[in-house]
Amino acid sequence: MHTLNVALTGVTGYIGSHIAIALAEHGHWVVGFDNFANSSPAVLDRVATICDTSMPFAELDLADTDAIASFLVTNKVDAVIHLAGLKSVAESVAEPLRYYETNVAGSVSLLKAMEQANVHGIVFSSSATVYDPNQTSPLGEDAVIGPINPYGHTKIMVEQIINNAAAASSLKGINLRYFNPVGAHPSALIGEDPVGTPNNLMPYVMQVAVGMRDEVSIYGDDYATPDGTGVRDYIHVCDLADGHVAAVNALAKISTSDTINLGTGVGSSVREVIAAAERAADRDIPHRVVKRRPGDADMSYADPSRAEHRLGWKAQRTLADACVDHWRWQDQNPHGYTTS
Ligand code: UD1
Repeated sequence: MHTLNVALTGVTGYIGSHIAIALAEHGHWVVGFDNFANSSPAVLDRVATICDTSMPFAELDLADTDAIASFLVTNKVDAVIHLAGLKSVAESVAEPLRYYETNVAGSVSLLKAMEQANVHGIVFSSSATVYDPNQTSPLGEDAVIGPINPYGHTKIMVEQIINNAAAASSLKGINLRYFNPVGAHPSALIGEDPVGTPNNLMPYVMQVAVGMRDEVSIYGDDYATPDGTGVRDYIHVCDLADGHVAAVNALAKISTSDTINLGTGVGSSVREVIAAAERAADRDIPHRVVKRRPGDADMSYADPSRAEHRLGWKAQRTLADACVDHWRWQDQNPHGYTTS
């Protein structure tokens, strides 16, 4: 296999750190940058421990086009995996301009830097949140698009920008629409470390399991699902990372741009997630049903067949595997990367 020099934006984030390891395991050379807006420099040491080597890193902001261009040139980068961005739905509703600036203008800045540096491949971190929530799963890539918050709009806008730029130049792009990433590296050295109260289900469940929070609020049990609680497609972050390696390897084969779901195709309910976490942590996890969270769909899971056909990738790990790994990380790092 042809090995590549791959740059990761947002390399110290939850997903970026796992991708860095997967790329290194597949023989690629990894470099990265981050502005630490929502991540810790401690991640770099942990990744170096796992990979047995440290990667070239720079503290850079997406807005700094020229600095990014010279970073790409200096490191002889062949392709970029673009993960840097803001990701809170609630925050995006309260501060839409900050979200459009960072996610959309930041991506344009990156693409301009790539053009300056003659880098012609990009894999973009998009989200299943671009789909209209009012449609029946499984969701294929041709499902109706209709995000319901600024965060989701930024994701579909960047996909569009990449598609247009690819059509007009020698750029090749793959937009990856993630379902719900969970789990952690089995070493327990890296994992998800949310700032403040977690918005997402799995980190919240794990913080209750470790005793940091009292109980899980189940946001409604009157949805049109088998047990009444919301159903999602939880994908192990290491499977997600392997999907990026497959996408980077596929860049050379595609003509302009492509859009591909990364999910398992399996839907799990909130109650099933709590039960799987209870088994992994070997303890009861207190929970209580409360009212629905506005904007939540009853069911969302992927049709992952395009990823298998076009990338030769398929999720290998189960929800139970993800809970075991997420729990090991949470148990050994109850305060995440903060060691105090
Ligand atoms: C959310 C975002 C989505 C983003 C994704 C990142 C919303 C509406 N969507 O997806 O845009 O891409 O995170 O991973 O915020 N739940 C509880 N109690 C909790 C938390 C969640 O019952 O404390 C339920 C939710 O109602 C849902 C499921 O758990 O049914 C998963 O929720 P969450 O982890 O927040 O993910 P999504 O809502 O799917």
